[in-house]
Amino acid sequence: MRLQNKTALVTGGSHGIGQAIAFAFAREGARVAVCGNEPAALEETAAGIRAEGGEAAALAADVRDSSQVDAMMQRLVDEYGEPDIVVNSAGICEVAPFLELTEEQWDRHLAVNLKGAFLVSQRAARLMAAAGKGGSIIQVSSVNGLAAEARQAHYNTSKGGLNSLMMSMALELAPLGIRVNSLCPGFIETRLTRPLIDNPAAIADYLKTIPMGRVGRPDEMADAAVFLASADSRYMTGHCLVVDGGQLIKLS
Ligand SMILES: NC(=O)c1ccc[n+]([C@@H]2O[C@H](COP(=O)([O-])OP(=O)(O)OC[C@H]3O[C@@H](n4cnc5c(N)ncnc54)[C@H](O)[C@@H]3O)[C@@H](O)[C@H]2O)c1
Repeated sequence: MRLQNKTALVTGGSHGIGQAIAFAFAREGARVAVCGNEPAALEETAAGIRAEGGEAAALAADVRDSSQVDAMMQRLVDEYGEPDIVVNSAGICEVAPFLELTEEQWDRHLAVNLKGAFLVSQRAARLMAAAGKGGSIIQVSSVNGLAAEARQAHYNTSKGGLNSLMMSMALELAPLGIRVNSLCPGFIETRLTRPLIDNPAAIADYLKTIPMGRVGRPDEMADAAVFLASADSRYMTGHCLVVDGGQLIKLS
């Protein structure tokens, strides 16, 4: 068990990639707090982890709201103490051509995907710094933070910004023993990607962009997150770990 006696906070822990990471962390021995803005699904996830013999708490919060993030952090400290591991997986992704992108869509994507990660990361890093025991912070970014996908200027920008935040944090927090890295998934089967996966013609076309020829799974992201969270990656900080079946290397 690679995360024994560790406390982990996973935002977006009620669904998809974050949920798979929460289960994987618990299976590696961590106490896991799942955070998100869908309370019933959060409770279900925490109950699922406990049913497997793991330790889990559900902490509802909208990551865009600093007062909710502060209250959520206080509940985490009261329940489990300071976090050792934090994963920011809360995120949204809508498609909109650049010329039709609305100010509301732009603001909402930047608020959840970037500001939310900032608020949670900064509060968690303060707790880690005060506790003096280091830590690992993982930003669930995207290949869209490293290259541009059409009709996703707002999403691409939020993930590019998240990678920049990750590097800035890694630089300032390294002397405190706090490592900060990004996990950059390619196309992963979750409810975010379900509409495309359920469209046979569209998914057949899309799979041509992935050298490995298949969609990724949340558990494959979770394996990479366990690596980044554990001592297996102890000399890594400021890194974007791309897990995408080769999608990013394909020019044509
Ligand atoms: N699925 C993919 O192909 C893919 C690829 C690259 C990156 N990602 C990133 O992975 C992360 C997880 O995506 P997913 O595919 O698991 O999606 P998902 O919809 O299954 O999960 C998103 C999670 O974020 C939470 N969330 C959304 N808005 C929130 C808010 N305001 N406050 C708190 N929680 C909020 C939801 O409750 C949910 O738990 C996202 O950041 C996404 O950008 C996904």
